[in-house]
Amino acid sequence: MGNVYVMDHPLIQHKIGIIRRKDTSSKEFREMIKEIAMLMCYEATRNLKLSDVEIETPIAKMMAKELTGKKLAIVPILRAGLGMVEGMLAMIPAAKVGHIGLYRDPQTLKPVEYYCKLPADSSEREIYVVDPMLATGGSAAAAIEMLKEKGVKNIHFMCIIAAPEGVKKMQQEHPEVDLYIGALDQRLNEHGYIVPGLGDAGDRIFGTK
Ligand code: PRP
Ligand code: URA
Repeated sequence: MGNVYVMDHPLIQHKIGIIRRKDTSSKEFREMIKEIAMLMCYEATRNLKLSDVEIETPIAKMMAKELTGKKLAIVPILRAGLGMVEGMLAMIPAAKVGHIGLYRDPQTLKPVEYYCKLPADSSEREIYVVDPMLATGGSAAAAIEMLKEKGVKNIHFMCIIAAPEGVKKMQQEHPEVDLYIGALDQRLNEHGYIVPGLGDAGDRIFGTK
């Protein structure tokens, strides 16, 4: 079973408090999403493998550390996941970026796929799927299914706010995927929105409502 990490870092919690507020502007919302993604990326990459490498400082030779193993790719779920990419890339500038287009049908709450473009070598990479919201879990589970169909194996999922229903669905459908969560909220309401949540993440990032 994959691990579920709920981030308890005070900076992450403070910034999540800001994006939850209904009067936070799109400008500040975007800035905060970027900063939260940076901090979450820092925490979520804690277990990356290091190896020893001999280097020379201006003073002496030494054994330093460098990242080894698989290279990374970031895969945002469109649209709202796009808001997290810049922060992730600030931490891992060499990562490649794929895109998965999904939206949730407002009536059925089922995900509708409209786009998928991944780095050609995705099956050899460590993939971080990012989306600010994990509500029913339908979108995240479908995105990961799309990745698996393309032969991708090493998948992690990162979201800023999750509902227990979404966590449960991910654990049932993709039990091997690690989940990195900024805050775990109470429940979903009758429209599939996370309570207390932050409203519609895509609309708040892009100012579309
Ligand atoms: C939001 C969010 C997730 C999805 C979560 O996207 O960014 O992708 O809903 O809900 P779920 O867990 O119940 O599937 P939305 O469908 O509103 O699309 P958008 O990002 O294009 O606005
Ligand atoms: N998608 C969002 O953007 N917000 C929610 O609360 C649920 C799904």
